[in-house]
Amino acid sequence: MLDVSPIVDITESRPLAMLRGAIQAARPLTYVRSAEEQRVSDLLREAARRIFSPPVPVFTWSLTEGMRNADGSPAAAENLGPRAALDFVAAYQGQALFHLKDFHEPMRDAPDIRRRLRDLYERCFDSGKFVVISSPVRYLPEEIARDVVYLELTVPDLAELRTFVEREMAAGVARGGTVDASEGTQFQLARALQGLTLSEARHALRRAMAVHRTLDPSVVPTLLEEKRLLVKRTGLVEYVADSTQIEHIGGLGVLKKWLLERRKLFEMRDTISSDIVPKGLLVMGISGCGKSLSVKAIASYFGLPLYRIEMTEIFSGRHGPAEGAFVQACRMMEEIAPAVVWFDEIEMGISSGNEGTGELSRMFAFFLTWMQEKAHGLFVAATANRIDLLPAEMIRKGRFDEVFFVDLPLDEERVEIFRIHLQRRGIDVERFNLERLKRFTRGWTGAEVEQCVIAALTAARLEDRDLVDDDLLNATANIVPLSKTMKEQVDHIRAWAFDRAVRASPREFTH
Ligand SMILES: Nc1ncnc2c1ncn2[C@@H]1O[C@H](COP(=O)(O)OP(=O)(O)OP(=O)(O)O)[C@@H](O)[C@H]1O
Ligand SMILES: [Mg+2]
Repeated sequence: MLDVSPIVDITESRPLAMLRGAIQAARPLTYVRSAEEQRVSDLLREAARRIFSPPVPVFTWSLTEGMRNADGSPAAAENLGPRAALDFVAAYQGQALFHLKDFHEPMRDAPDIRRRLRDLYERCFDSGKFVVISSPVRYLPEEIARDVVYLELTVPDLAELRTFVEREMAAGVARGGTVDASEGTQFQLARALQGLTLSEARHALRRAMAVHRTLDPSVVPTLLEEKRLLVKRTGLVEYVADSTQIEHIGGLGVLKKWLLERRKLFEMRDTISSDIVPKGLLVMGISGCGKSLSVKAIASYFGLPLYRIEMTEIFSGRHGPAEGAFVQACRMMEEIAPAVVWFDEIEMGISSGNEGTGELSRMFAFFLTWMQEKAHGLFVAATANRIDLLPAEMIRKGRFDEVFFVDLPLDEERVEIFRIHLQRRGIDVERFNLERLKRFTRGWTGAEVEQCVIAALTAARLEDRDLVDDDLLNATANIVPLSKTMKEQVDHIRAWAFDRAVRASPREFTH
C-alpha cells in the first residue's frame, strides 16, 4: 500500500501541490515542461521528502550520464541508455521517484520506447514508483498522452520563491556574506521577486548581494528595479515601480473608504467565499483628476506589485493579432498573482475603428469570462476616459465590484491637493492661506493644481526667494483649465457618468 501523507500544507508551492495530486491519484507518469531543469530536480527532491513518509530515493537519468543516485553516483554498473533506463525502473524494488531528463528525444521515432513507457504505466501502478519526464518542450506522443499527467512550470509562486530565497541566503552566508534570514525578510524578498523565473530571481538576488553586500529588506528596491527591467523585455506587461501612497491622493473619500473595506476582504481571500473576494474596480473620469494616481496607490495600499497592461500596446501589432496578445497578457498575469493588474485606457481599440472586426467582441467576451474566473490573488484596476464607448455588459455590476467616477475636485479637495503637492516639495503649508485659492481654481483638475504649485515655485526660485502666498495666487491667473477649453467633452463625461457610476468623492460638484 502506498504511504502518502494526506496533509495539505498552505506553504506548499503550486507545482508541489500539483505533483502531490498526481502522486495521490497514483498516476505513475508525469511530464513536466520547464526550461529550468534544476528547478524540476529541486521539486522532485522536495516531493520525495514532503509527500512520502519515510522519504523515498530520487533517481535521475540523462542521455549523457545514464541513471544516477541522488548523490550523483552511478545507479547501475553500466551507463544505461533510454531503453535500459526504463527497464531499470520496471525492475526496481520499492518506492522511488525517477527523473528522466529530456526524455522527449528518446521517445521521438522510437516505437519500442513508447511501448515500454506504456508497459511501465501498468507496472508502476500502485507500486509507489513514479516516473517524471522533464523537458523544455511539450512532446506527447498520442498513444501515451492519455496516461500522462502534464504539468507546466511557469513562474514560481510565493512559497517556492521563499524556499529559494532561503537557499540563496544560505549560499550567500557560505560565501562569507551577511544576511537577515528571518522569515519576514524572506517573504519580503520573495514578494519582490514574484513574476520572475527562478534563474531570473537568482540573477536579481546575486546582483543585489554584489551591490549591497547583504540580503536584508534594504535590497528590495534593487530587486524591484531588476524585475522592472526583466518584465519590460516582454513588452506586453509592464511592471510599475511606484511608491504612491493613499495619503498622496487629495479627496476621493468615497473611493478611499471603499478600498479600506476591500483590502480587508482581499487579504482574507483564501478563507472566505469566492463571491465576496474583491475582483476589481473600474475608474473612469476626467483627465488629470487622479485615475492613474489612485491605481498606483491601490497597489501600495494592498501591499502588492503593480503591473500595467497598455491597451495601446496590445493593439500596436508588435505582439501579433490583438486578441492573441490580450489573452497572453491575461494568462501571464495569472502566473504573477498575487498582484494588482492595471488595464490602462481599457476603452482603447474600440475608438480606433475595430468594431466591425469581430475580434473586439471576442476580446471583450474573453475579458468578461476571465474577470469571473481569474486567480483570486489578482485585483483588477481598469481606467478609462471614455467609458461611454465600452459595451454595457462590461460596466454592468458583477464584472467589476464597483464603477467609480472621478469628477473635478470639490473646493475642499482642491485645498487638500494643494497641501499634498506643497508638502511633497518640502514646503510648510501652515504658512499659507490655501482657503483663498478655492475661489480662483473652480473647475480645475488635480493635475492643474499641481501645475500651479510648480509654476509658483519656479517663479519664487527664479527670484531666489522662498515661496509666498501671492506666488500661488499669481500662478492661478495663467492656467486655463481643461473644463473651460474642453467644456463640451467634460460636460458629456459628467452627464454620462451621473447615473451610471458611483462618485469617488462624497458630494456633487458645485460651480
Ligand atoms: N486627487 C489628486 N490628488 C493629488 N494629486 C492629484 C490628484 N489628481 C491629480 N493629481 C496630480 O495630477 C497628476 C495626474 O493625475 P493622473 O495621472 O492620476 O490623472 P488621470 O486621471 O490618470 O488622467 P489621464 O486620463 O490623463 O490619464 C498626478 O500625478 C498628480 O500629481
Ligand atoms: Mg491616467
